[in-house]
Amino acid sequence: MRAPELTPDARIFVAGHRGLAGSALCRRLRAAGYENLVLAESSEVDLRARGATARFLADNAPAAIVLCAARGGGIAAEAAQPADFLSDNLRIQLSVLDAARALRVPRLLFLGSSRLYPRESRQPIRETSLLSGPLEPANHTYAIGKFAGMAQVRAVREQDGLPWITALPTNLYGPGDNFHPTDSHVLAGLMRRFHEAAQTGAESVAVWGTGTPRREFLHADDLADACITLLSHYDRAEPVNVGTGRDISIADLARMIADTVGYQGGITFDPSRPDGTPRRVLDIGVLTALGWAPRIRLRAGVASTYQWYLNSLALPRPRMAVRGHEVVR
Ligand SMILES: NC(=O)c1ccc[n+]([C@@H]2O[C@H](COP(=O)([O-])OP(=O)(O)OC[C@H]3O[C@@H](n4cnc5c(N)ncnc54)[C@H](OP(=O)(O)O)[C@@H]3O)[C@@H](O)[C@H]2O)c1
Repeated sequence: MRAPELTPDARIFVAGHRGLAGSALCRRLRAAGYENLVLAESSEVDLRARGATARFLADNAPAAIVLCAARGGGIAAEAAQPADFLSDNLRIQLSVLDAARALRVPRLLFLGSSRLYPRESRQPIRETSLLSGPLEPANHTYAIGKFAGMAQVRAVREQDGLPWITALPTNLYGPGDNFHPTDSHVLAGLMRRFHEAAQTGAESVAVWGTGTPRREFLHADDLADACITLLSHYDRAEPVNVGTGRDISIADLARMIADTVGYQGGITFDPSRPDGTPRRVLDIGVLTALGWAPRIRLRAGVASTYQWYLNSLALPRPRMAVRGHEVVR
């Protein structure tokens, strides 16, 4: 079956539309003229529940699904509750993919992650490096869960001929990120710590690890545009990298964030904390050949995300407040 064209009136289910990736995708889909979005918060439809998920999809009959729903958190949260994270994510994947398969939903995009690549992958990492070596131990449980989702997407393509696809995004950031003090990803976590240090006039901020690992950061709006490109133009079993192709050391990222928030104190590094993979940057050749390119440079994206963070802190109602400061679900 050829991938059907995604017309502007197509019903698109963005699973996880309140999260970092899902909220960006909704913004970009609407901006591109896709108004017929199917959305449900986890409090309305718990996607871990097979029956509720199947009923919801049958009632709404989407022409496309982007699976951005997942139990997310920083490495520390995952390390503290690996069984809970794995169980939730496997159940979300299985109930959405099974229900979509039963309905023969014509288009589905599953979000994997660059954390699925082996620790010692050759850089920049090409899609062919998947499963070519041992994983970074901190990514093991998360990655195994994602591999199960990817394998199911590929198996449905083979068995049922549905043109489902997988994307592998690098580290994301942007409006809607989680700024929790311990359960956030690196960029949002640093932003919150430098913001608070600037507010209190702290003399120094300690950053985990040596500062030497190099990482890649993609604005969620760029990921959203990439998802639209893939849904419109990609129909192959191989997962596709979504990144910027540029990396930055954690030390330089910390300095960039400190500058952005106006923090003037010192920055120290704590080598007793683990560094993780020394370098992770994606080769984005497959995706750029489809006509997509990242548009938001890191410094500009960090500045606009910080502005969003400040605006969110100022919002009066807890429901609208920035995640990590208030419970939003
Ligand atoms: N963030 C990154 O750096 C990154 C990098 C690579 C790949 N990814 C992958 O990209 C995807 C999206 O990540 P994200 O950072 O956007 O996640 P996120 O901000 O944590 O958002 C997760 C979303 O999943 C929904 N969700 C969680 N449990 C649910 C449940 N039981 N039923 C229904 N919905 C549920 C949440 O819905 P409610 O808000 O309604 O509760 C939320 O909207 C994930 O698969 C993640 O693994 C993320």
